Amino acid sequence: MPTYVVVGGSRGVGLEIVRQLAADPENTVFATARNVERSVHLIKVAQEALAKNVVTLQADVVDHRSLKAVAEQVAVATGGSLDVLIHNAAKMDYANGNQYRSLTEYDSMDVLDTEFIEAFKVNTLGAIHSVDAFLPLLRKGSLKRIIIISTGGGERDIVWKTRLAETAAYGVTKCAENMVMAKYAASLEKEGFIVAAISPGNVDVSATALSPPTAQQLADLERTMGRIRELLPNYPDKPLTPEQSVKKVLEIMNSLELKDTATFRGVWG
Ligand SMILES: NC(=O)c1ccc[n+]([C@@H]2O[C@H](COP(=O)([O-])OP(=O)(O)OC[C@H]3O[C@@H](n4cnc5c(N)ncnc54)[C@H](OP(=O)(O)O)[C@@H]3O)[C@@H](O)[C@H]2O)c1
Repeated sequence: MPTYVVVGGSRGVGLEIVRQLAADPENTVFATARNVERSVHLIKVAQEALAKNVVTLQADVVDHRSLKAVAEQVAVATGGSLDVLIHNAAKMDYANGNQYRSLTEYDSMDVLDTEFIEAFKVNTLGAIHSVDAFLPLLRKGSLKRIIIISTGGGERDIVWKTRLAETAAYGVTKCAENMVMAKYAASLEKEGFIVAAISPGNVDVSATALSPPTAQQLADLERTMGRIRELLPNYPDKPLTPEQSVKKVLEIMNSLELKDTATFRGVWG
């Protein structure tokens, strides 16, 4: 009866991870959302799970106390253990139009500072808060896996190959999140943990987005993808569906062995 926590399971990739894990009646899936009541897609997935094996819980990764409270609820339900933690939450929405800004495109350093600090709190500290909250349970679990859903946009070699100057706040803070993964891998190696980062590839999550993309966001995305395709002619024309991406993410996750701890894997294509 493997137990999973998906932190950030309300929408997009995280929601699909919850859905696909719950399709196996042997699994119990604890999914967090910042506001469960308003997470209509997650509520639907939980209701439609044939095995009734999805439990929804409320936490904001910026608030480490909320994650500790959720970990206590999970411990009560499982008898104190957890097998797999999947940390998926990330700051992807920038209502102010700064999502695609490169370091040279911010209107002011004050705006850049604010944005980087907010992104750091969610994308970097958020991962530490998650692991810290669930580590006591994971230590008592049978699988000892910590998976960080990451991005090639936070990997130096990929950023250089694609000349990805855009998405500066996101990329820098997801890069730091990859380092969080490596630091925990080093700390927990002797205890038999597998700690790894997996990128879901380029995924169209618009079907569960809070709001449709603005014209500016679509133009920024097109500019970025156009250049990537120019540099990497084999890069796929279309993004993956959440279903396609998560199928591969879970295949990668299930294939990981002890020797793979501290690695970054990606779903390319
Ligand atoms: N989509 C892609 O093409 C792509 C590519 C590479 C990597 N990724 C990675 O895949 C993961 C999911 O991305 P996505 O595309 O599915 O994004 P998304 O649809 O915007 O979903 C983001 C998720 O993060 C949660 N979240 C945001 N801020 C949070 C906070 N402070 N506390 C708790 N949860 C929070 C959201 O919950 P709420 O509903 O509460 O806002 C939502 O569940 C991210 O780690 C991202 O870096 C995505």
